[in-house]
Amino acid sequence: MTVSLTGSPDSAVSSSLITISPMRRRHLRGVVAIEQQASSHPWSLGLFLGELRMPTSRSYVVALDRHVVVGFSGLMYTGDEGHITNIAVQPDYRRLGIAQRMLLGTMRQAMLHGLTAVTLEVRASNEAAQKLYQGFGFAPGGIRHKYYSDPREDALIMWAHDVNSTGYDQRLSGIESASQQQARLGDQARLGDAE
Ligand SMILES: CC(C)(COP(=O)(O)OP(=O)(O)OC[C@H]1O[C@@H](n2cnc3c(N)ncnc32)[C@H](O)[C@@H]1OP(=O)(O)O)[C@@H](O)C(=O)NCCC(=O)NCCS
Repeated sequence: MTVSLTGSPDSAVSSSLITISPMRRRHLRGVVAIEQQASSHPWSLGLFLGELRMPTSRSYVVALDRHVVVGFSGLMYTGDEGHITNIAVQPDYRRLGIAQRMLLGTMRQAMLHGLTAVTLEVRASNEAAQKLYQGFGFAPGGIRHKYYSDPREDALIMWAHDVNSTGYDQRLSGIESASQQQARLGDQARLGDAE
């Protein structure tokens, strides 16, 4: 996939050229721009900077189309529990499997840090994100009433348990294989279009 000067994909058919990398300060301008599009209460540059200053309890990644940031996700951890703090993909790049690839990296990090469970909050109406999380074994574990504002809405609390187990490792490997297969199909379609 190549990007135009506006940062939009010229041909949104494959995510195989998207790389997932650790988030660095140089990525934050792009990260904040995506965050502003994705959230009614966007995190500030200062907040992201603060997160990057805590590398022993945070793990943030970005998705890059060449050098352009097209997505990001984050994990906070203490003890054996983790919390997905934020995840968003630039609107033109959605439904290409980018969030799935970022979450794969994030959940592998969770395993690496010896976490046993990972939790998150998601808007009750956010079916897209809930479907994404369900694929990673997250299940509803409770409601935080009126947790969000603009618009006011409940948060669904979701948990993935036993993320340090062989079974969870196998789940991630399955997602990885399916994602690689999807990227290969996308590449074939892209090459077909170019002929
Ligand atoms: C949620 C979000 C991060 C998904 O990013 P994405 O890169 O488009 O997601 P992916 O392409 O990796 O999708 C992976 C799976 O998630 C689910 N999914 C993603 N978007 C979906 C949608 N619009 N409708 C239904 N299911 C969806 C599907 O199960 C999908 O698998 P499939 O394509 O094989 O059906 C993106 O829509 C976004 O940035 N939303 C705004 C920010 C946000 O809501 N963040 C979550 C905060 S809790």
